[in-house]
Amino acid sequence: MTGAADGRGFGHGKVILVGEHAVVHGHAAVAAGISTGISVEARPGSGTLRIPSWGLEAAVGDGTPVGRALEAIQRRLETPPLAFEGDAQIPSRAGLGSSAAMAVAIARAAAAATGRTIAPEMIDAAVHAAEEVFHGTPSGIDAAAAQSGRVGRFTRAAGWQPIPVLQPITLCIGLSGKPRDTLAQVAAVGRLRDRLAAAGDALALLGRLADEAAGALAKGDVDGLGRIFDVAHGLLAAVRVSSPELDTLVHAARAAGAVGAKLTGAGGGGAVIALAPAHERDVLARWRAAGFQGFTAEIAATRPEGA
Ligand code: MEV
Repeated sequence: MTGAADGRGFGHGKVILVGEHAVVHGHAAVAAGISTGISVEARPGSGTLRIPSWGLEAAVGDGTPVGRALEAIQRRLETPPLAFEGDAQIPSRAGLGSSAAMAVAIARAAAAATGRTIAPEMIDAAVHAAEEVFHGTPSGIDAAAAQSGRVGRFTRAAGWQPIPVLQPITLCIGLSGKPRDTLAQVAAVGRLRDRLAAAGDALALLGRLADEAAGALAKGDVDGLGRIFDVAHGLLAAVRVSSPELDTLVHAARAAGAVGAKLTGAGGGGAVIALAPAHERDVLARWRAAGFQGFTAEIAATRPEGA
């Protein structure tokens, strides 16, 4: 083990466009890293983390999930004890991949602070170990999107594959104001699937919709993607991960001119996404009038690989 210098790292926030929960059960999902996320600075220290904008303070050995995640990252990367300070531009526990973005930013800052070259697979393993502390057995999609910052298709078997997006897309993101609890939601969906074969069929259909969404992104078919969002929201509600707030946000977006809207991430609380070309302001205003905060995020266009 060598001494440490200062290091910086960044992790992207993410939205799952289609396929959350389905991806846990081996089906496909499509997610996009967003440009905002979390920046972390590492300095020689004693295993502490502060993220003032979240009011978060934790330390290795304090028994909290964040303290345990920090310990898992430092152990995996074999770093000396470090002090981390984070600046978060995304809300925590809102379904926007805050824990994965935080783990990626910490792991990258820790790796930079060691001054050694650390293979991306090692960073990946450290992030996964941290995500296991928060979410039990996550599919890995949040960690992959937090590292990539682009749009990708993810399955447990094939991992993250970047996919083409023909034209930039503006997403409206609405916050329910209720924290999501990924661990509990994933467990509840798993129990429902064990009990009811039709719930498993709904998850398989969500995976199929993810592939249709990839097709719509490649063609620049925003209207088609909106229809897919609507059907996906219905299926997610069918497996009981929507909530009165999420349904209100989805219906308000549609009433304000959205071509489609759905919850994003684990659900129960957290966020919704809506596609409303030329009506983004109307959607945000309607959400505000109903007492919910929202903002827009851009998904950049990307060429097919090799093009
Ligand atoms: C959470 O952002 C996405 C879920 O599919 C859980 C996971 O993939 O680990 C609900």
